[in-house]
Amino acid sequence: MTKPAGTIGGAWPAGNGSPRSGAAGVLSDRGGTDREHLAVLGAGWVGLVTAACFAELGHRVTVRDVSEERIGELTAGRLPFYEPGLADVVERNRARLSFTLDVGEAFSEARLIFVCVGTPSTPTGDADLSGVRRVIDELPRVAEGVTLIMKSTVPVGTGAKVRAALDARGARNVGYVSNPEFLAEGSAVHDFFNPQRILIGSFDSRGAERVGELYGAIPAPIRHMDVASAEMTKYASNAFLATKISFVNEIANVCEQTGADVVTVAEAMGLDCRIGPHFLQAGIGYGGSCFPKDVAALKQLAGNSGYHFQLLTAVIEVNDLQKRRVVTRLREHLGPLAGKTVALLGLAFKPNTDDLREASSLVLASRLLAEGADVRAWDPVAIESARELLDGVELCDDVLDAVAGADAAVIVTEWEELRQLPLETVRDLMRRPLVLDGRNFLDPNEVRGAGIDYEAIGRPAVRAPVARALELQVS
Ligand code: UDX
Repeated sequence: MTKPAGTIGGAWPAGNGSPRSGAAGVLSDRGGTDREHLAVLGAGWVGLVTAACFAELGHRVTVRDVSEERIGELTAGRLPFYEPGLADVVERNRARLSFTLDVGEAFSEARLIFVCVGTPSTPTGDADLSGVRRVIDELPRVAEGVTLIMKSTVPVGTGAKVRAALDARGARNVGYVSNPEFLAEGSAVHDFFNPQRILIGSFDSRGAERVGELYGAIPAPIRHMDVASAEMTKYASNAFLATKISFVNEIANVCEQTGADVVTVAEAMGLDCRIGPHFLQAGIGYGGSCFPKDVAALKQLAGNSGYHFQLLTAVIEVNDLQKRRVVTRLREHLGPLAGKTVALLGLAFKPNTDDLREASSLVLASRLLAEGADVRAWDPVAIESARELLDGVELCDDVLDAVAGADAAVIVTEWEELRQLPLETVRDLMRRPLVLDGRNFLDPNEVRGAGIDYEAIGRPAVRAPVARALELQVS
């Protein structure tokens, strides 16, 4: 039940277990003739997906990163993270992709330069723009006809600052376009070729049409706008989606108090096209590299400009508390958690990625350890990433090893593998058969039918008869 890390060159079987992995294959015929040479600055997740997918469309792409280790890995044919389908796209377009540490090489042929550097949160919640500043500092003196295309998520006003910095250093001939990414981890290759919309923010016509042409083969509405509006659309979209999640999580919490079932409620709410069915899955909070960072940055951006964004303050707080509620629920069942064993099933912030950034599992593990519990964890791809982050947690390669002897198992990430859990074996292996489903993923009747106590988020709790009997025997 463990998936391999990303290796370019066929180490992943075709299809690699992901429902999305076939998506890239059908697109290969879009490549073919060589198109305009592009460069991508930053070989992180956004940069590599962008580079590989443009190569698939027929462009030669030079990818530049400052990390010697990363460029070394990529040159040797290894991807630094797990993203379904990406290794196949990279492999198929190897001849069009090159990786370098040398910024001069990136600018030597390409005139359209994608900026995909990280913009992590600073301790104040502002975005750290040192990577963007470095791009401007390193810009070669002769950059005639070059357009920088900002893919990274940057605070509103960044484009104007970059424009001013370029002008100040005499680089008026360098164009600037904002072209935010809307790629979700786990389905990024599919999302690149099937976006809901493409935003092109520009100060003037320089470069904007050429950027639009790059997306000519992709059937999606293109919106040309000013740079600040493009920057804001990205933040507002992510903040709105995070708001939907925190909203439904609060509805779930009230459902628990009142006997309603949030799954039924959310499904029926979603039938109203003004609300829509997406991002209404209650659970133990959102994580990842985007939502927490972008919501904090928008709140901070508003604060810096003198506006207190009350709604986002609540969205963040609800999410933080939602990640911790599981611990209270476990205490209600098990009493003091010291000496109890809890299995965390899934560690990644969502399925189909090995990304642990802001994952609910990190908060849960550290709270449980602080209460004196023994914590075991299983994840099909994130175990390696977890090794450094989850000190004190016993990491298991097999899900059954994680649940053996446990007093409770918490579903943290809705990995498809968990649907195949042999429930009766799980019941027999656990010291106390209790499953807390943090993603409302399993069928309550099936789990309870196997004699396991099952609780979910915002759904009525019913004790399984066998579990009750076992509990009586234990006590
Ligand atoms: C998100 C945006 O979807 C993407 O457009 C943007 O470019 C980057 O941020 P990503 O962070 O990869 O993408 O993950 P996403 O699928 O949006 O999920 C984010 C988090 O929300 C996950 O932790 C997920 O478990 C949680 N979530 C999502 C819910 O709790 N409930 C939902 O209904 C949907």
